[in-house]
Amino acid sequence: MKALWLTGRICVVTDANVLPRWGWPAVESLRAAGFEVTAVELPAGEASKTLQRAEALYGHLIANHFGRHDAVVPVGGGVIGDLAGFVAATYHRGMALVHVPTTLLAQVDSSIGGKVAIDHPLGKNLIGAFYAPHLVLCDVAALETLPARDRWSGLAEVVKGALIADSELFLRLENELEQLGNGTLSQADWVEVIGRAVRIKVDIVSEDEEEDGRRVVLNFGHTLGHALEAAAGYGPLTHGEAIVIGMRTAVEVSLRLHLCPPADASRAQALLARFPAPPPVPPPDAAVVRAALARDKKGVGGNVRFVILSGLGKADVVPSLEGGLLEFAVEHARSQLGASP
Ligand SMILES: NC(=O)c1ccc[n+]([C@@H]2O[C@H](COP(=O)([O-])OP(=O)(O)OC[C@H]3O[C@@H](n4cnc5c(N)ncnc54)[C@H](O)[C@@H]3O)[C@@H](O)[C@H]2O)c1
Ligand SMILES: [Zn+2]
Repeated sequence: MKALWLTGRICVVTDANVLPRWGWPAVESLRAAGFEVTAVELPAGEASKTLQRAEALYGHLIANHFGRHDAVVPVGGGVIGDLAGFVAATYHRGMALVHVPTTLLAQVDSSIGGKVAIDHPLGKNLIGAFYAPHLVLCDVAALETLPARDRWSGLAEVVKGALIADSELFLRLENELEQLGNGTLSQADWVEVIGRAVRIKVDIVSEDEEEDGRRVVLNFGHTLGHALEAAAGYGPLTHGEAIVIGMRTAVEVSLRLHLCPPADASRAQALLARFPAPPPVPPPDAAVVRAALARDKKGVGGNVRFVILSGLGKADVVPSLEGGLLEFAVEHARSQLGASP
């Protein structure tokens, strides 16, 4: 960190699960390196990504006389990274930010791309900014303590990256999905897989930092995934479980539009079918899913832009789903949550 000319003080932000395992070791090693460090612990989970928690964190920084040249270091998953990143982006109009992601999802997705956000009671991630971190320090050892369900959740993002942009990674996932999900691969294997997934996101984001064009393909599986998460009320499904459902539906839609070779669609579906089934969740009402889709902030001019698979490692965007395809997609996604009530 000193090599980055970070010479000021550091506020480590972490959650109750991560603090004893990775938070304290991070604080101790920063202190041993000569930094003055304070630590803030938040309750684990999405419920912490609020304006109230952000305000408390601003309060801690003010009370401890933090300035623009001091750093915030989130040590945790996407929740901690998004919230502490948002505070770093806005406190004194921006202070140093070093992400230390400890979930697979945060390592391959949320710590990259410069999006930081908090939730509003009316919707998730509605208040945020684009704010690039000064550094992302990713240690795959952190994954050893990650619960299996969170590991599979992050793996869904790795599969998404492979499907939209990396057919070689797709092949590797075809061979090793269960070992990755069950956490039985070596750290060296993880470094390769995560490195590859990171490269996919970095390449796409660096072409389109503010999400006007190419970056939309990262939303593969997310249009319906987000709508299901919102309609089911955040909590019953992990983000990964929701986007696996969304990706299966997106592949089906791509086939119906004759935009994806059937052999590629079959291989994509076969890989997605190997994810563990989510816990039973009553399917939300179709109207509620449609309303959540309509609220999707990535829609343009009221249409639901939809990312389709055009082959293994290739994705494209269609401006809207016509001719009953939107209704088909909503039903296809809902049907994966179990029988209709
Ligand atoms: N900014 C972005 O571009 C972006 C992208 C994708 C997702 N996100 C956001 O990320 C969040 C989800 O992130 P997440 O899945 O990492 O959730 P999370 O931060 O809630 O972490 C999941 C769980 O794992 C625990 N945990 C974290 N690291 C651990 C470890 N090493 N060992 C044991 N337990 C550990 C946490 O305490 C938590 O209970 C959502 O809020 C989502 O909106 C942001
Ligand atoms: Zn995602």
